[in-house]
Amino acid sequence: MNKSLLRVLHGERRTIPPVWLMRQAGRYLPEYRATREQAGGFLDLCFSPKLAAEVTLQPIRRFGFDGAILFSDILVVPHALGRKVRFEVGEGPKLEPIGTPQTVASLPAEIDHDLLAPVYETIALVKGMLPPDVTFLGFCGAPWTVATYMIAGEGTPDQAPARLFAYRHPDAFEWLIECLVQASIGYLARQLRAGVDAVQIFDTWAGILPPEEFRRWCIAPTEKIVRGVRAQVPDAKIIGFPRGAGSMLPHYADAVAVDAVGLDWMIERRFAKEQVQRRKPVQGNLDPLALLAGGAALDAGIEAVLEAFGDGPFIFNLGHGILPETPVAHVEHLLKRIRA
Ligand code: CP3
Repeated sequence: MNKSLLRVLHGERRTIPPVWLMRQAGRYLPEYRATREQAGGFLDLCFSPKLAAEVTLQPIRRFGFDGAILFSDILVVPHALGRKVRFEVGEGPKLEPIGTPQTVASLPAEIDHDLLAPVYETIALVKGMLPPDVTFLGFCGAPWTVATYMIAGEGTPDQAPARLFAYRHPDAFEWLIECLVQASIGYLARQLRAGVDAVQIFDTWAGILPPEEFRRWCIAPTEKIVRGVRAQVPDAKIIGFPRGAGSMLPHYADAVAVDAVGLDWMIERRFAKEQVQRRKPVQGNLDPLALLAGGAALDAGIEAVLEAFGDGPFIFNLGHGILPETPVAHVEHLLKRIRA
């Protein structure tokens, strides 16, 4: 098997670590902006297999990353659960918020996989065009993170609406999470069968939960998804990314049977090396702002990441998504440095 990134997910250390960037297909690329304009709405882009395949491949062609991530969004799952989802330019996602336990109770027992069929079609198209040494990643949002958007109807600085809802209506919230667990299992298993090599579970908002709630709403549902996916696809390779988990990271790494753990840029690298990479491969964790800044800050950041994690199983990435203002030249420089 000549896919370097996939080999790391099997626990191997690579002399030159494989590299990809979260949100590598996006607005920092002129060719993405052009295709985005052609597509019309953002969801139209996600659900047009030819265009979604095209933007998935754009960063591979331009930079030669070791991993390609399916172009879609975590919020297609609420969409397939019958919730209204809109993306307005410059505003971020807008959903019809969930204010009461009754709305949760009225959610369908299953997502509508027909609505997600274009995603599986995109995967088949990309798989046919991807260089053989590039690992193809699918993904979903973790139930907690998806629930925060479904409850508030948008991103908020601390996702207080979802935290409040979970305290006030724990049974209804548990049902919402369970609904998302089952939807995510079916969604990821179908992505794997359609042709992705591995999947990543994004828990962007894990870090705002207190420890008990972190166990209940981040660790437990994610572990359930991992087991459920492997019941259908036994050798499924899975990366977990609990952003902001901090001191809860070792618990996550122990309790969730993911093959690798994604690290954000805030975590102390020595702690992550000793407490996480000792247990399993890690991915991360350059500050996206260091990549945006470039120059000495970027070089120092790259060195620090390689120095901390380079002697174990490791996938180079950012600690969160690439920012739209990032110069393309800085990404080129990053790859040259890592592969030098
Ligand atoms: O290149 C890739 O990584 C693949 C595609 C991808 C997108 N979103 C495309 C996108 C992936 C993996 C995501 C995940 C995602 N979506 C997450 C988890 C990771 C993270 O970044 O925290 C979350 C929380 C979302 C929800 C979401 N989608 C938000 C909050 C926003 C608005 C913020 C923003 O960056 O504009 C989106 C929109 C979105 N998803 C864009 C892209 C390229 C920008 C929309 C546009 O082109 O107009």
